[in-house]
Amino acid sequence: MTQNKQRDTWGTRLGIIMAVAGSAIGLGNFLRFPAKAVENGGGAFLIPYFVSLLVLGIPLMWIEWTLGRYGGGFGHGTAPGIFHSICQKNRFIKYFGVIGIFGPLVIFIYYTYIESWALGYSFFALFGKIQALGDQGAMKSFLTGYQGLENNQYFNGLGWAYLFFLVTFGLNMGVIYYGIKGGIEKLCKIAMPLLFLCGIVLLIRVITLGAPDPARPEWNVSNGFGFLWNPDFSKLTSAKVWLEAAGQILFTLSVGIGVILTYASYLKKGDDVVLSGLTAAATNEVAEVILGGSIIIPAAFIFFGPQDIQTIAAGGTFNLGYVTMPLVLNHLPWAEIFSFAWFFLLFLAGITSSVSLAQPAIAFLEDEFNISRQRSVLIFGIVSFMLCQPGIFFLGKGVVDELDFWGGTFFLVLFATIEAVLFSWVFGLEKAWDEIHHGADMRVPGIYKFIIKYVTPLFLFFILGMWLWQEWIPIIFMENVPLENQPYILATRAGLVVLMIVLVVLVNIAWRRKETCLPAGREKLVCD
Ligand code: PFF
Repeated sequence: MTQNKQRDTWGTRLGIIMAVAGSAIGLGNFLRFPAKAVENGGGAFLIPYFVSLLVLGIPLMWIEWTLGRYGGGFGHGTAPGIFHSICQKNRFIKYFGVIGIFGPLVIFIYYTYIESWALGYSFFALFGKIQALGDQGAMKSFLTGYQGLENNQYFNGLGWAYLFFLVTFGLNMGVIYYGIKGGIEKLCKIAMPLLFLCGIVLLIRVITLGAPDPARPEWNVSNGFGFLWNPDFSKLTSAKVWLEAAGQILFTLSVGIGVILTYASYLKKGDDVVLSGLTAAATNEVAEVILGGSIIIPAAFIFFGPQDIQTIAAGGTFNLGYVTMPLVLNHLPWAEIFSFAWFFLLFLAGITSSVSLAQPAIAFLEDEFNISRQRSVLIFGIVSFMLCQPGIFFLGKGVVDELDFWGGTFFLVLFATIEAVLFSWVFGLEKAWDEIHHGADMRVPGIYKFIIKYVTPLFLFFILGMWLWQEWIPIIFMENVPLENQPYILATRAGLVVLMIVLVVLVNIAWRRKETCLPAGREKLVCD
């Protein structure tokens, strides 16, 4: 079979902005951000958060849009090929790019499962099941029963959770099957406005709540906002707070893992990246700081007060979203509708992110092996479906947390560092600067030449260094993992190593095939 495939493209500029914003706006905005802010100094958290946005998030957004569009011009939609296009002489550079397929795949396999809980809960909310749960204890049992962590009066086994996982997984595959323009862009153009609609409805509901309990007038909305936003500046001297803020920026913007590289590879050469990248980032920030920061914490404060909310927030991100928030909404008239709006918002936020996590692996099969999209989706579907199973069945053993640590934290920072160094120091900042401005609707402020070249990579090195110094030993030796979970964690790690090796081998095979098939100087695979 000989074929020079035409790559998919975005239909409209609004389409790609919505798709990148859709990838960025996810569970992280509504669950992770408020919990991190409460934990790390309230309003003071916004200082390291916005510093990280300016020196990490926005530069990496531009870097990924620019490198992605550049690599797409050579027919490459994933990091191995994109890195190879910026330095064709170096035979090893493509292997660094393996993380840009590995990372999104690892996040995909647990993220999709958590996203499916939101679909399940939307369903239960609509049918009044959640409203029947009276207190925190009942709500917690409902969640642990749903997750299959215990059999109780609400659930016996994982049946419902598995059913909603299958539906969610199927919907994800359906969207990517229709491709960039016909699937992802269409989904985001519908889902993003709907998501904002749900968010605004909930926001208005929360700010008009007043003080529902006349005996406790101080448990009111403005104190709820105060609880979240009153700054505790003493926290700013802690390195951990800065690391958390930087990690949150990378995670929430979906940068530093290869997903935006892939999305941008479907741009055309003359398409703007500067203003579009900035618009997508700004849209995410509105959703995170305004919507994410105004719904869950102030609402929980009003009903639980300053003492309990501390414990609730410390109980973890999912407690806030899946236990506290439905309890709060149960206190309101039309609880079914508001609970449905909350969980459906989470589901929409989730699915527009998970399809972006699937796309790098699909693009890799399509671009580097010349496999049709339909077959690539089939292969990806079978492999990722199998990879999802340990997270579902061994959730209680810490498998999802382990995947989140490697995919959503460690490799995110590592890959961001690699991208920042390659962009300024291998591609070369002068060339990169021309490339960024190709077709640009605005110029990047001059100060960013300095920031992108020095501040972004140094900041990332600093974060990596701090981690290695403070956390490496306890993580490697599983010091904080209960003894009975250790075999599961070890097995997860072994699985990840195997996955990484398989991807390295696939990159090797893809390039060998190209080398044996290509006339000198040609980039695309032209024979089989
Ligand atoms: N940005 C998403 C969120 O905030 O939930 C999560 C995510 C999606 C992270 C895609 C990384 C990624 F590549």
